[in-house]
Amino acid sequence: MDTITGFSRHSGALRCVPVVPARHVPGLADDVREGLLEPPRSLPPKYFYDERGAALFNRICETPEYYLTRTEDALLRQCSADIIALTCPDYLIELGSGSSGKTANLFDACERQGHTCIYSPFDICEPALAEAAGKLQDDYEWLDVRPLLGDYHAGLDHLPDYAGVKMFLFLGSTIGNFTPGEARAFIGGIRQRMEPGDFLLLGADRVKDPTVLNAAYNDAQGITALFNLNVLQVLNRELGADFRADNFAHLAVYNNELNRIEMYLVSRLDQEITLGRLDAGFTLERGERILTELSYKFYFDELETLLEDSGLEIVRHFEPDNRYFSLVLARRE
Ligand code: SAH
Ligand code: AVI
Repeated sequence: MDTITGFSRHSGALRCVPVVPARHVPGLADDVREGLLEPPRSLPPKYFYDERGAALFNRICETPEYYLTRTEDALLRQCSADIIALTCPDYLIELGSGSSGKTANLFDACERQGHTCIYSPFDICEPALAEAAGKLQDDYEWLDVRPLLGDYHAGLDHLPDYAGVKMFLFLGSTIGNFTPGEARAFIGGIRQRMEPGDFLLLGADRVKDPTVLNAAYNDAQGITALFNLNVLQVLNRELGADFRADNFAHLAVYNNELNRIEMYLVSRLDQEITLGRLDAGFTLERGERILTELSYKFYFDELETLLEDSGLEIVRHFEPDNRYFSLVLARRE
């Protein structure tokens, strides 16, 4: 067991197969040059997920305030039997699979129904992917686990060929981390990889009382703050930057007009940052913000439009009594 991240190393670890990008994906240096050197400053959220970031995300999911994971897990527990009976998938392909924790509900349902399938978790964070794949392989002997490593923005065209019924999974409301335009393009990209009769199971967080939303991204233990600040360590390590975490504050606020949480790192003072490996630097004024994540919340009709405009037909919609979260099962028409 790694004491910092909590990830154990499986001795007989499954090989994570790299997915070749179908187009050029900007790297960290490109994204930093593009987004960070000049205001308004921003970073894509995928850089949160180094080994420590992935472990911090898992800890966020356990905080009392972050209801998303618990709610989606409970929904999956209730509806997995229906989903498996309806879809009978040969392949489950999960985009941004992380720990694959909630997905186990679907495997439990498969087990109860005597159904076998192949599971491909697809993630950019190799330690998290290897850990999750190894654990599932240990827990479900019958399951054929084939982990895929890469960036799902550019890898969907180069997924392996699948002969049989596919169900894509995009859980956890990661769709909320995209702008509306990116979300449409992403769902359209998944749709292009689907044959008629294939399915997509989409998990998305719903618009609700802003007090609940603000609390979910400002947990009392400060784990979300550590997760947010961790991206500075990534920049220090990968680009030879000299960010000091204690010179920044975590800020997450719900934007009522755009129905999204906006997460920032706020400079606590006037400071100069050097990016050694880029031979570049910039100045931050006290109070200046770096946008690190958007987390959109959805009305159900927005999810309907998103899926149907991409040519997907909604087959089932599962939501809890408090309507905090949606799990939408859609099929290619
Ligand atoms: N689906 C899981 C994890 C959500 S966290 C859950 O619901 O709990 C978001 C996950 O997406 C992380 O595991 C992160 O590593 C992965 N991810 C983020 N950007 C990615 C990208 N561009 N390509 C592939 N995976 C990505
Ligand atoms: C992965 N994603 C859906 C999470 C979210 O809620 O936007 C990441 C996260 N950021 C802060 N807390 C959790």
